[in-house]
Amino acid sequence: MINSAISNFHKFSLKKKIEIIKKFSNLGKTDLSLLKKYQKLPDFLGFENNIGPFKIAANFLVEGKNYFVPMEIEEPSVVAAASRAARQIREGGGFRGKYLGNEMLGQLQLLGIKNFKKAKEKILGNKYEILKIANETNKFLLKIGGGAKDLEIRKVKNFLVLHLFADPKDAMGANIINTMLEKAAPFISKITGGKIGVKIISNFAEKRIVFVEGRVPVKKLALGNFSGKEVVKGILNAQELAESDIYRAVTHNKGVMNGIDAVALATGNDFRAIEAGVHSFAAKDGKYKPITKWKLEENFLKGEIKIPLAIATVGGATSTKKAKLALKILRVKNAQELGVVAASVGLANNLAALSVLGTEGIQKGHMKLHREFING
Ligand code: MEV
Repeated sequence: MINSAISNFHKFSLKKKIEIIKKFSNLGKTDLSLLKKYQKLPDFLGFENNIGPFKIAANFLVEGKNYFVPMEIEEPSVVAAASRAARQIREGGGFRGKYLGNEMLGQLQLLGIKNFKKAKEKILGNKYEILKIANETNKFLLKIGGGAKDLEIRKVKNFLVLHLFADPKDAMGANIINTMLEKAAPFISKITGGKIGVKIISNFAEKRIVFVEGRVPVKKLALGNFSGKEVVKGILNAQELAESDIYRAVTHNKGVMNGIDAVALATGNDFRAIEAGVHSFAAKDGKYKPITKWKLEENFLKGEIKIPLAIATVGGATSTKKAKLALKILRVKNAQELGVVAASVGLANNLAALSVLGTEGIQKGHMKLHREFING
């Protein structure tokens, strides 16, 4: 098994890059011919980190495991930046991360409820019956330990809103939860006398949070004429501005999402749902905040990211040939492993962006690559 720490991966010929990935991820004939099909498309450019339907970021070490990460994104500089920052974080031991939970929630809106207290009692009194109806829609999920787990009742204006919590395991959860809600809705309407309104998953996935951290020896952050200490100063100033200013915080977060969306797209995930979840989470306390934090800890710059991340390895477009190939290259075993890797990529992109923003500026490296990409 090869290490993914290859500093000049982007400089290798296409043939050599494919050779490395083939060995690393044990690609077969079908995988290679799929890559070839994409390489024949008129817009394919065989330089930088492109290998076919996606580009490849190198150097990722997450929870002690090596990864080459497929990223589907038009900006080659994002992939180059992720690879560079992953190399720096590797110097500090790599990324560490985990999920704090795996539940999604769906909402059912009830209209015309006259006695809220009584309706709430009725629902909670029939909780196990409701969960049973919901779970009848997906026996397999139940068998593997997932499925509907709990209910919560809220009053929002004149509406009674039921929250159904379910563990979708390695799926994103939208189809699972929407089906459960639609199946349970007539029973809930019957016991409460309420009329059914909205019944849909919530993308505010606050019970499916991933946390990732990584650190870099300050010395390793040196960039061009700037010392590691100067780069750190720039990063901390940028962080402070993002903490107190929505204009900066949103761009800070956009840079993080450059990486996460690219992994989500390569693996056939719903990146709009992920975006919606992340930005709502960033504003959950009434003020829009950066989703990463950087601080100095002795001779290390330490970064962390904490976000809802409903990313999947089964269901929806994750079963397309392209997404399956991306998952094979990643060698991830389940959705949580994929989520930890995706959040690591986001943190890496944020480190790369803040390193240049507080020092030499973005245009030098980023726009150079972008121009080469556009002009071929
Ligand atoms: C550009 O795609 C992303 C950045 O604007 C992110 C940031 O400002 O932190 C460079």
